[in-house]
Amino acid sequence: MKDTTAGAAAENAAGGGNRARSSFSHRLGRRVMQVGMLLVVFGVLWMFLYNSTSFFGFPSFSHYYFIDESPKADCESRLEGVLRNASMKDKTVIITTLNDAWAEPGSIFDLFLESFQIGIQTQKLLNHLVVLTWDQKAHARCLALHKHCHQLETKSDDNFTGEVFFMTPNYLHMMWTRTKLLGSILDMGYNFVFTDTDIMWLRDPFKEFYKDADFQIACDYFNGNSHDLKNLPNGGFKYVKSNNRSIWFYKFWFNSRNVDPRLNEQDVFNNIKTNPLVSNMKLKIRFLSTSYFGGFCEASKDLKKVSTMHANCCVGLENKVNDLKILLEDWKKYVALSENEKKQSHLSWSVPQSCR
Ligand SMILES: *[C@@H]1O[C@H](CO)[C@@H](O)[C@H](O)[C@H]1NC(C)=O
Ligand SMILES: *[C@@H]1O[C@H](CO)[C@@H](O)[C@H](O)[C@H]1NC(C)=O
Ligand SMILES: *[C@@H]1O[C@H](CO)[C@@H](O)[C@H](O)[C@H]1NC(C)=O
Repeated sequence: MKDTTAGAAAENAAGGGNRARSSFSHRLGRRVMQVGMLLVVFGVLWMFLYNSTSFFGFPSFSHYYFIDESPKADCESRLEGVLRNASMKDKTVIITTLNDAWAEPGSIFDLFLESFQIGIQTQKLLNHLVVLTWDQKAHARCLALHKHCHQLETKSDDNFTGEVFFMTPNYLHMMWTRTKLLGSILDMGYNFVFTDTDIMWLRDPFKEFYKDADFQIACDYFNGNSHDLKNLPNGGFKYVKSNNRSIWFYKFWFNSRNVDPRLNEQDVFNNIKTNPLVSNMKLKIRFLSTSYFGGFCEASKDLKKVSTMHANCCVGLENKVNDLKILLEDWKKYVALSENEKKQSHLSWSVPQSCR
């Protein structure tokens, strides 16, 4: 329709009352054909939607590939190659994501990798760590230090290079992209431990995971009951097994993002964790104790038990770097003790300091 004024558009739509009557039947025929075609299009669309959503029996949520207009088959097969190379025998990988600000020399990524080196039985886990990079610079830095790196395809207007501030639109977009990506990794049949890069790996966490859970997640604050949905989880560390329930759950989670666009994926998780659809699906959720999976919100006080420590409850990259450096120094003092001294030691963390 070439007319741009609202009046002209309305007139055309109404059939143009002051035009010659001779063309009326001709136009009527055309209109019938248009309506018919529209019906066919709707029919096809409906069938597609119905088929893609009725799979798990909940027709109200569309499959996320439907929303995504650009097929990423190529990128996904490259990712699949990287996952295969890094996989444990049981198809488990450790995943982190990295942008340039955190990849700079002396920043978070260096500390993260160092933690695996000085952790107890954590060096071998580096063979299974896949670093997903948001930009070219982070990717180059990853390749220089690590063997399993994969650069994510981002749209031209995404810029995840600098420090991405909490709850800004850029931050939200990054977090949701991450959730979607983790869902597709489950789709490919891989179990994963997702870890933020500001989490220090000090002992092998696989010894502390629950054997029978589908989805286990660390907490900012842990109330002592690993089954209790009222725990306050932190999406920066989770172990998810790939199965029908977890695959469904990631779709449900991702598709719930539009309910309130101001919420991040962790808030939405807190909203949906008690949803009856989730309990109907029998997704087995467990919350990990901060005694083993601690952070600056609530530390793993006992160095004889700690598995990971997260620079959570901390705003600002410099503060995180500062306190994580101190944390690794504390840890080095602990591991330097003899076995006997370790048993009797009451060493604990001298952090948080800059992080409050
Ligand atoms: C997987 O590892 C092999 C051997 O190290 C390497 O040649 C290949 O490029 C890797 N594949 C990917 C997708 O990284
Ligand atoms: C992305 O942001 C960083 C700083 O946050 C800036 O230096 C860089 O030029 C930006 N890149 C693009 C392509 O806009
Ligand atoms: C659920 O998982 C089982 C085994 O893991 C598989 O055989 C089955 O096809 C799956 N069902 C659906 C609906 O995906």
